[in-house]
Amino acid sequence: MIIAVDGPAASGKGLLSTLIAKKLDLVRLDTGLLYRAVGQALPDSVDLKIDKKIVINAAKNLKISDLENPALKSENSGVVASKVAVIPEVRQYLLKFQQKFGKNMPFGKRGVILDGRDIGTVVFPNADHKIFLTANANIRAQRRFAELGKKGIKVKYSRVLDDIISRDERDLERDISPLVMAEDAFLIDSSNLKPNQVLDIAIKYIFRDDKV
Ligand code: CDP
Repeated sequence: MIIAVDGPAASGKGLLSTLIAKKLDLVRLDTGLLYRAVGQALPDSVDLKIDKKIVINAAKNLKISDLENPALKSENSGVVASKVAVIPEVRQYLLKFQQKFGKNMPFGKRGVILDGRDIGTVVFPNADHKIFLTANANIRAQRRFAELGKKGIKVKYSRVLDDIISRDERDLERDISPLVMAEDAFLIDSSNLKPNQVLDIAIKYIFRDDKV
């Protein structure tokens, strides 16, 4: 079984995917980490518009162990990720990485769940279940701000909101694999819902007509 969870920054995709993975015994891949890791592999001096080859090579050489770096959780890492994510060749290499992950299902597991922006549209257009999770930008910024605070990362609320809005714009407007809801995806607006309520709605959707 393959489950795709897409949606904008800080919409709760990560938490929802983790909860679904636990409940249904699936392996989860947070595909945002791939883009974050590509950004992280670059030297500080890199100019993303000029040194595209360096960026493309970072995507080509990405390893699963690169995703464990705690620095990938920073606000800045998300911003850089959304900049490398507009480069078509980067997406091409990461597409192969994600499809390979989905096909090499670990023994004994029931399936995989991937969360990102283009999982239901591009990476696995034939996924068994597709969820598009959204929430309004202020609520997403408040959640991300609280999350960073818990990790001891100091950042201004206005900066978090600005980053989310600018990332939304870049993700929605890029030419290749923009953030768009797949026609056959199930929409959940989590603005006024608690994590467990979102989980319940998602599980009901996944078990619709017993297609698990
Ligand atoms: O966790 P959050 O929603 O803030 O971001 P993320 O999922 O870690 O993604 C970081 C950035 O990577 C996004 O803003 C996108 O630009 C890019 N991304 C993408 O283009 N396609 C994906 N499947 C996942 C992430």
